[in-house]
Amino acid sequence: MAIHRHQAGTVELTAKERFYREVIHGLSSTPKYLPSKYFYDAAGDRLFQQIMQLPEYYLTRCEHEIFVKQTKALAAPLLQQFETFDVLELGAGDATKSTHLLRYLNDSAKDFTYYPIDISENVIRLLENEMPQRIPGLEVHGLNGDYFDMLAKSYDLSNRNKLVLFLGSNIGNFKRDEAERFLQALNYHLQPGDMVLIGFDVKKNPKDILAAYNDDSGVTKAFNLNLLKRINCELGADFNLTKFDHYPTYNPISGACKSYLISLQNQQVTIGEESFSFYKNEPVWTELSQKYAEREIDELAMRAGFKPIAKYYDSKDWFVDVLWERI
Ligand SMILES: C[S@@+](CC[C@H](N)C(=O)[O-])C[C@H]1O[C@@H](n2cnc3c(N)ncnc32)[C@H](O)[C@@H]1O
Repeated sequence: MAIHRHQAGTVELTAKERFYREVIHGLSSTPKYLPSKYFYDAAGDRLFQQIMQLPEYYLTRCEHEIFVKQTKALAAPLLQQFETFDVLELGAGDATKSTHLLRYLNDSAKDFTYYPIDISENVIRLLENEMPQRIPGLEVHGLNGDYFDMLAKSYDLSNRNKLVLFLGSNIGNFKRDEAERFLQALNYHLQPGDMVLIGFDVKKNPKDILAAYNDDSGVTKAFNLNLLKRINCELGADFNLTKFDHYPTYNPISGACKSYLISLQNQQVTIGEESFSFYKNEPVWTELSQKYAEREIDELAMRAGFKPIAKYYDSKDWFVDVLWERI
C-alpha cells in the first residue's frame, strides 16, 4: 500500500493506511493479535448495539442505571466548580448514557459544548445529527479520530475547563500498565481542576463476567468475526469466516477477560501482497476487557495524578463510574 509522503519528508498515514499497518503488524506477531479499536465499522457499531441489549451483557444496564438514577449527583461537582466548560466524550458510541447527564447540564442553563470523540466515522455522523434532536439547544461538535489526536484538536477549538467522559468500561480495553500510561497521557492533556468520569467494570463472580462475552444467541461471536469481514472489505483480504471460531476467557486473579478468534484448520490468508499462515487451533487475540477491584482503581488515580472526588455504583455494585479531578 502506497504511503502519503509530505514535502518536508514527514509521513502522515491515512486512517486506512494505519489500519493496514496495524493489522499486518498484529498478524506478523507471535502470538497473533488484532487491535480491538477496529471492531467498529458501521456493521460493528450495529452489532455492538445488539450486544448492549443482550441479557448477559450487564455492563450497559448497570452503567445506564447509574446515569438515570444518579444524574444530579453526577452533575453536582461540575456545576459547583465551573461556570462554563466543555464536555468531551472519548469513544462516545451511541451516547445513550451520557445523554442523561448532558440533558441535565443543558437544563441547568450552563454554557457548554459537547465534543464526542470516536474513531468510527459512522458514530460521529449519527451523533452530530441526533444529539441536537435528543437535547434541543445542545451545542455539538463531533471529532472523528483517535482519542488523543482528537483531544489535542479540541484545544484548537476551545480552552475552557473540561469534563472528559470515558464510559462503558472502554478503559478495560487497555492492559493495566497501558491504562496507567493512557491516564497519565490524559492528565498531560488536561488543566488543573479539569475532571474525568470513567466507567470501570468491577471484579465479580467469574461466571457472570464470562457469560457477558459468550452470549447464547451468538451476537458477540458475530461481532468478533466482523473484524475479519472488515479486513476483507477494506483491505482486500480473503478470510473465510466459517473457518474461525469465537473463544472468550476470564482470569479471576488478573481480572483479564480476553476474546480470541480460533483458526479451525491449517490455512493461508492473503491481505493485499502479504500472506499469513494459521495453524489449526491457533488463537488470534482480538479484545481485552480488564476488570478492576476498587483498590486497583484508587491506585490508578494516584499513579496518574488525579484526585478521586466521587464513586457512583449501580445497585448491584457490579459497575462503578469514578469522578476524578486533575491535580
Ligand atoms: C464499547 S463502545 C462504548 C461506547 C460508549 N462509550 C458506551 O459506553 O456505550 C467503544 C467505542 O469507542 C470507540 N473507540 C474504540 N477505540 C477508539 C480509539 N482508539 N479512539 C477513538 N474511539 C475509539 C469505538 O468506535 C466505539 O464507538
